[in-house]
Amino acid sequence: MAASTSYDLIVIGAGPGGYVCAIRAAQLGMKVACVEKREKLGGTCLNIGCIPSKALLHASERFDGAQHHLKDLGIEVSGVKLDLKGMMNHKDKVVADNTKGIEFLFKKNKIDWLKGEGKFVGKGQVSVNGTTYDTKNIVIATGSDVVSLPGIVIDEKQIVSSTGALTLEKVPETMVVIGAGVIGLELGSVWSRLGSKVTVIEYLDRILPGMDNEVAKEAQKILKKQGLDFKLASKVTSAKAGKKVDLTVEPAAGGAAENISADIVLVAVGRKPYVDGLGVKEAGVALDERGRIKTDGHFKTNVEGIYAIGDVIIGPMLAHKAEDEGVVLAEMLAGQSGHIDYNLIPGVVYTFPEIASVGKTEEQLKTDGVEYKIGKFPFMANGRARAMNATEGFVKIIADAKTDKVLGCHIVGPEAGTLIAEIVIAMEFGASAEDVARTCHAHPTLEEATKEAALAVHGRPIHI
Ligand code: NAI
Repeated sequence: MAASTSYDLIVIGAGPGGYVCAIRAAQLGMKVACVEKREKLGGTCLNIGCIPSKALLHASERFDGAQHHLKDLGIEVSGVKLDLKGMMNHKDKVVADNTKGIEFLFKKNKIDWLKGEGKFVGKGQVSVNGTTYDTKNIVIATGSDVVSLPGIVIDEKQIVSSTGALTLEKVPETMVVIGAGVIGLELGSVWSRLGSKVTVIEYLDRILPGMDNEVAKEAQKILKKQGLDFKLASKVTSAKAGKKVDLTVEPAAGGAAENISADIVLVAVGRKPYVDGLGVKEAGVALDERGRIKTDGHFKTNVEGIYAIGDVIIGPMLAHKAEDEGVVLAEMLAGQSGHIDYNLIPGVVYTFPEIASVGKTEEQLKTDGVEYKIGKFPFMANGRARAMNATEGFVKIIADAKTDKVLGCHIVGPEAGTLIAEIVIAMEFGASAEDVARTCHAHPTLEEATKEAALAVHGRPIHI
């Protein structure tokens, strides 16, 4: 590419934030390039995150179902065997197809993929592999990276991050997961279903911090029944790889340490914003106290013409949050207006059953001093869930005590990640619990549990 190439927009990073921003900007008529150093487009999400983990979650759930649950439906199967290599091939093919899909979309939208590491070199200039490109605007969408704990070295063999946990060559007999967050529970579930004895060690006295406590408690009960062991209020102070990994675990509040060993340790204690190699310091782009790029309410950094979206800025590290930011920013750069309601970004944990959440939790409302009413409905009383033999969990809707406006919804149960969409839309339109309750829901569906939870806000569910 000629050194004189100039663009309206250069996006750095081709994850869900970056590639979506690039596509939307191209749709709006901008000349766009996207810088990506990985061999494949799609960022963490498509290559080593959401997509491969969902492929393994789906496949391992089927394996577990065939072994343990089909017989409850009157289906006899024998000789169910794991072909781990085959399962990994499925995952790799899903990743390859998805990443190629983004390449196709780039071509379709005439977006140039600048392969290599992007670096700021001057006002409105980005260099990639020694070539400098001029651009009117730059979007930083460089995402995030795994973090470890002091003294624990991730070797991606015995002590792995989510990346290594997606490519284990055999099922470990024992696995310790450090961190009962989203990654810990999802990947812990995968390997537990495939035969590992999994122990999850969590610093706090609860799993899934930030999610509704009642839902987290129920989820923990269900996952424990499935075979996951939990050690809460505990901290891992060292992990040394040898024949096995030897861990020292201490009560979070202090006290006698205990030694545990495991074949594999998965470190899942969060992620940090990734800005390595960009030259943010030299460009004068300000970071906050947690290493995130500082932005105003419109994704603008302190440097004219440089914007940032996704995991690298404030907010939940979620692909769909980054995507929405990418779209809104592209539209704003095209002179349109845009807005994201961060209260309405759903969160989903893809365990079985799924755990999904939107809006305020009960704990947040208590802290904020808001008066609320709760409606809860168990899947046990839902005909479709019974037919599916998936009766664990419940839908919980929280509404304003005075206005009845839906303030939050928290679900643990079958297809919770799909069910939550109804409430996200309802909340987008400012719906009341009564609006949801009076909406006709097809029978027999899992969604009826949502309607019943809305009815329960007013103390009048039909089926309990
Ligand atoms: P997380 O923030 O969800 O959970 C980390 C957990 O580790 C927390 O429960 C925390 O209390 C615990 N922890 C921290 N230090 C610890 C210590 N020293 N000892 C024991 N426990 C400790 O982070 P996670 O699971 O690593 O995920 C990273 C990011 O990726 C999150 O923002 C998450 O939302 C996102 N993600 C989202 C997915 C989804 O939407 N389904 C799937 C996977 C990741």
